[in-house]
Amino acid sequence: MSIEQLEETAQAMVAPGKGIIAVDESNATIGKRFAAVGVENTEEHRRAYREMLLTTPRLGEHISGAILYDETLRQATRTGVPFTRIMTEAGILPGIKVDKGPVPLAGFPGDVVTEGLDGLRPRLKEYAALGAKFAKWRAVIAITEDTPSGTCIESNCHALARYAALCQEAGLVPMVEPEVLMDGSHDIDVCYEVTEATLRSLFSALYEHGVMLEGTILKASMVIAGKDCREQADVEDVAEATLRCLKSTVPAALPGIVFLSGGQSDEKATAHLDAMNRMGSKPWPLSFSYGRAMQQAALRLWAADMTGNFAKAQQTVFQRARDNGLAAMGRWKG
Ligand code: 13P
Repeated sequence: MSIEQLEETAQAMVAPGKGIIAVDESNATIGKRFAAVGVENTEEHRRAYREMLLTTPRLGEHISGAILYDETLRQATRTGVPFTRIMTEAGILPGIKVDKGPVPLAGFPGDVVTEGLDGLRPRLKEYAALGAKFAKWRAVIAITEDTPSGTCIESNCHALARYAALCQEAGLVPMVEPEVLMDGSHDIDVCYEVTEATLRSLFSALYEHGVMLEGTILKASMVIAGKDCREQADVEDVAEATLRCLKSTVPAALPGIVFLSGGQSDEKATAHLDAMNRMGSKPWPLSFSYGRAMQQAALRLWAADMTGNFAKAQQTVFQRARDNGLAAMGRWKG
């Protein structure tokens, strides 16, 4: 795989007015989402739900790629067409979540570190052969009175850099995701400090590991007050703080930044992205890689009547894609 091909894929992921849908919930995580709407967590339900999402008519107009979970990458529609073929025909790049999730960081109560590096090289080779064009690894940084430690930030960024280098070796664009969680009562300034420290550490580790930034995508969390903070920043403040933080830490060589929604409402996730894209010039396209903020309305509809509401659920997926696509260009009308 040439450098040019990695660059081309990375640029296609953040093409104007397009973003990513995250459909990469592990079986345990989708089980929680299903439980909330009264759906049993079986392989067939997971397959049918992902079929509804991925076969949404005209999804490729606003969606450049979808991140899948291992099981989903190997699945097919009810009539036997592999999901990867459906996506490729719709102009949607197949992506794959390759981390194995966070575990407690020994010696640092409250901190976690993401696992999954052992055996990653052959797994990436297999995913590339199955049609994946990019991969995702999520590090989790939790804010409390005592966390994150510097060791937590460093360990997670070191793992992200090792994963990213292995991806590029395998011809996959690494999407590096250091998620600073919204859980907690901290204010937006604390989130800013932690996000800034994390991104500085991340780009230093990527440099140390020889990762080519031109073939890398950052999946970032927004700079936002904790969910339980009494003082919630307004849309303009979140947009301004996030942009300021990114501009001071993320090299201009990066082809693009996409955001996670992290528990924000659908409306807020779109409004924040739109506001950032209205704020004048920036070195990279800013788009979305939303999971919940793309899916939650559709999941409720689908769960209420899986076959009867199939088309209605798809309509909401399309609307969310269109709204976020407009926000990626600063043209969402609210
Ligand atoms: P949310 O948008 O629901 O945070 O999910 C995005 C994601 O992929 C987190 O890793």
